[in-house]
Amino acid sequence: MKIQAPPGMRDFYPEEMRFQNWLFDAWRRVSRAFAFEEIDGPIFEHLDLYKKKSGEGIVSELFSFQDRGGRELAIRPEMTPTVARMLAARASSLPRPVKWFTIARMCRAEKPQRGRLREFFQWNCETFGEAGPLADAEQIAMLAALLREIGLGPDDVNIRISHRALAASLLQAEGVRPERTALAFQKLDRLEKWDSDADFARDWNAQLGADARAERVLALLRETSEEACLARCESAGEEGARVAADLRRLREHLDALGAADYCRFDLRIVRGLAYYTGTVFEAHGRSGELRAVAGGGRYDELVELLGGPPTPAIGFAMGDCVIAELLRELDRAPRLAESLDVYVIDADEALFPDALRLVADLRRQRLAVGFSYKRAAVSKQFKLAAARGARFAVVVGQELRAAGQAQVKDLTTGEQRSVRVADLRTDARAFAPRPDPKAGP
Ligand code: HAM
Repeated sequence: MKIQAPPGMRDFYPEEMRFQNWLFDAWRRVSRAFAFEEIDGPIFEHLDLYKKKSGEGIVSELFSFQDRGGRELAIRPEMTPTVARMLAARASSLPRPVKWFTIARMCRAEKPQRGRLREFFQWNCETFGEAGPLADAEQIAMLAALLREIGLGPDDVNIRISHRALAASLLQAEGVRPERTALAFQKLDRLEKWDSDADFARDWNAQLGADARAERVLALLRETSEEACLARCESAGEEGARVAADLRRLREHLDALGAADYCRFDLRIVRGLAYYTGTVFEAHGRSGELRAVAGGGRYDELVELLGGPPTPAIGFAMGDCVIAELLRELDRAPRLAESLDVYVIDADEALFPDALRLVADLRRQRLAVGFSYKRAAVSKQFKLAAARGARFAVVVGQELRAAGQAQVKDLTTGEQRSVRVADLRTDARAFAPRPDPKAGP
């Protein structure tokens, strides 16, 4: 019987794993540049952690189960509740701000489709303890830095920013009752999933039509001029004026941090998760066919809800699947091949033990070293070296007996020279890529 991976799950063969590691390295480099520290948590949590504040959407997509002790558990569908729980447990002893990131595997029982799987990885970044727009700006700048790092510019991806309080005040001005705002956000979050405005309007009007007609809400959402929205917000009382002032400062910080070219204001962004309280943002590929590449926002109440002190918080997560799809779509996926530093070739079977000793010595110098398990002709071994992407080949042959030397061949330039084997055993410099003679000083 042939058993395949379950639907929506992936096998990672070396080619796929190379892409994963390339992406994870970029995630780690950018996190470090922004002074975030890496943490991790458990693969499953108490079901209640997600029921508290992630919202119905995500709870209906949980892989949940009972352990033998009858506990209700769920595989993590996102990282934010775990990170907030961990922060709450040590809130009093951690110097503020706390800036943490994770790279972790998630599961959601979604219907598998392009860019949407049941198991995926997320790069998740969270900042705790800073209420002002500077933390929001740094988060968004970090997302922009990652996009730049992997070769995606503002023409490829944009970051759409809005604010839940601003959206709430505009919706309420249209007649949506405060207690119905969460439902209205859910509907807006799904707006782009409808085939037409008419379908959206039918769904909205059935539940929220008595508060505000869908046609008015759609007209409101089409107002994407940031100035017009901020002006309306400013005239909507003290809270509105505060939000508008924060958004203006956010824009200034984004400019100073070099991320403004990616960003634009978009009232349609409200985000699906229930815990968001302020700034919200999503990164989308320009073609707009894929789901969001990344999304996040401010969630100033979650830590307290999980038993910690009141703690302002903001974060975002980027999945691995959507970004991979987008890079493929734009033909920007990196071409990654296996790369060994050295391939050791024995030109004389009697010298194979010496070749093997050299392999061990080179590996001790942290070089990636391959050799053929089968004794074969030198030309065949050169082919194997090339197939494994080796940068250098070392040929151990008669020269070793005669003069204690071996031939080192640079497989990129074809340059070949004799080197003392005793030196190779302790000094990896023979395998440093040579400076390009055509390059300037
Ligand atoms: P989210 O929007 O649910 O937010 O997910 C963030 C990103 O994870 C999405 O934009 C997408 O790239 C990826 N993603 C989500 N579900 C799937 C799936 N089924 N298959 C493939 N990729 C997926 C959160 O998870 C929040 N915790 C983000 C956050 C952090 N908010 C504050 N801090």
